Amino acid sequence: CGIVGYIGKRDVAPLLLEGLQRLEYRGYDSAGVVVNSPKSSALKMVKAKGRVRDLEARVPKRFAGTTGIAHTRWATHGAPSDENAHPHMDAEGKVAVVHNGIIDNASDLRTKLTAEGVEFLSETDTEVLTHLISRNDADTLEEKVRGALKQIEGTYGVAVLHADFPDRIVVARNGSPVVLGIGEKEMFVASDVAALVSHTRQIVTLDDGEMATIKADDFRTYTTSGTRTTAEPTTVEWEAESYDMGGHDTYMHKEISEQPDAVDRVLRGRIDDRFSTVHLGGLNLDAREARTIRRIKILGCGTSYHAGLIGAGLIESLARIPADAEPASEFRYRNPVVDPDTLYVAVSQSGETYDVLAAVQELKRKGARVLGVVNVVGSAIAREADGGMYVHAGPEVCVVSTKCFTNTVVAFALLALHLGRIRDLSVSDGKRIIEGLRKLPEQIQQILESEADIKKLADDYADAKSMMFIGRVRGYPVALEASLKLKEISYIHAEAYPASELKHGPLALIEPALPTVAIVPDDDLLEKNRAALEEIKARSGRILAVAHQEQEKADHTVVVPKNEPELDPILMGIPLQLLAYHTALSLGRDIDKPRNLAKSVTVE
Ligand code: G6P
Repeated sequence: CGIVGYIGKRDVAPLLLEGLQRLEYRGYDSAGVVVNSPKSSALKMVKAKGRVRDLEARVPKRFAGTTGIAHTRWATHGAPSDENAHPHMDAEGKVAVVHNGIIDNASDLRTKLTAEGVEFLSETDTEVLTHLISRNDADTLEEKVRGALKQIEGTYGVAVLHADFPDRIVVARNGSPVVLGIGEKEMFVASDVAALVSHTRQIVTLDDGEMATIKADDFRTYTTSGTRTTAEPTTVEWEAESYDMGGHDTYMHKEISEQPDAVDRVLRGRIDDRFSTVHLGGLNLDAREARTIRRIKILGCGTSYHAGLIGAGLIESLARIPADAEPASEFRYRNPVVDPDTLYVAVSQSGETYDVLAAVQELKRKGARVLGVVNVVGSAIAREADGGMYVHAGPEVCVVSTKCFTNTVVAFALLALHLGRIRDLSVSDGKRIIEGLRKLPEQIQQILESEADIKKLADDYADAKSMMFIGRVRGYPVALEASLKLKEISYIHAEAYPASELKHGPLALIEPALPTVAIVPDDDLLEKNRAALEEIKARSGRILAVAHQEQEKADHTVVVPKNEPELDPILMGIPLQLLAYHTALSLGRDIDKPRNLAKSVTVE
């Protein structure tokens, strides 16, 4: 979901619609906008099921106002519809609320309010908040909002507009991001800097439990109990242009193409040739502490979880510390044993994914040390962690992650090298990995240049109803991620298996109609992987291999350049991003905004 708001002198509706367009990647089943003008005493609102462009088509010509808030929604409570779209207004049309997050006690409050005679217009949890604010008889908008927030349990990023207080917007944050954008005699608010950077790069990020009042030429922040807080504006480093498509047809294509530069950035300034190691200034972990770590547990969701799986392999092989990765959502709910000698690493592109954030909070409550591997600077997980690394991939707009995945894996290689060199990794192995890392940008570029060939293959395989992805050890998480990518954007069913497990079940599925994508690096498991290809071929299965050399048993081979065995998974994933992309393209899918998915899931 996305929130955007503006107060100033300009005509607000076009500004808000543009902001919503930039936020659409965060959720897009319905959208709405409400505006207020100092000259009128009523709010004007338009909402629409569908995309922002559907909303735009409904906004009347005369929709003047200089203050407003808007929202793009990804349904949690109540199906996508005009009524359930935000903003939510009270019956008098005085109060309008946009909200990200979930109000846990919404149904109790709804029952109570209904008994008091309130009529609900939607099925959303948010509408409860609207009525609580509207019915609060405090004198100021701040107190009304504060009073309402006191009654709700759950998570929120909210913005509130009130016809009786036309000079301000009141916002609050608890678990769902809110950033203020500071302009010249105008002020913005959004749930994501993406909506702000074309107007201002001066921002203030609210903390959980913080509220703010924004006026055209002023803002102030305070806690939900009313105590003033100090908020120093910071400058966002990402340029507005990095949110544009830059000549590509989709963000996904742009982001895939950016990988050589992105990898260059995650390495920049971190390599120390003298000691064949890397400097990771933000870890907050000195060498002595690092030596006491006995296990590493990596937590993430979706693609970040897969990056964590490869990261765990890198840590085990380079630092010889037992490491594994687990979906953060599962971890939280199994009452995990939190061990003081374990280092926990939370992985998240957005730094906002609720399941990851909640896992971090639970760990910290139990006294664990948590590092964050995050792309968005200053995001909730980055702030909550004891230290960590930014992956410096730049903004990622396509819902499915590509360049952030790659950069996260490279960041893990840096962490593994760093820990390895503190422990038992030799100078020469350190050197070998550093040389391998330095080769990555150029080798990725080389793979990208074979896009036309991969496109042909994609057209060839796009008629499949289902696809199998296999790999072993280092290759298995690559298979998992490639299969996720394909299903997310092409809607073709896909599953990933360790090649060694084929014969224990999934081999029963193999037939000409079920193609297999096999990860076949030229490493110590080459012969084993080849044996798996034989098993498939013997059942007339079609095979597409990603390998360092032509595979005789495969129908097609995508040959990728060889690096060090530990780093090969990074390269083997790249052609499979392009395979998923071109498969989805040839099926006519909406690649940047796949159905039912959102870029970051800030609710449970
Ligand atoms: C959502 C996205 C996935 C992403 C996952 C984790 O489900 O659709 O593409 O991998 O969240 O996101 P994060 O920002 O924590 O890496």
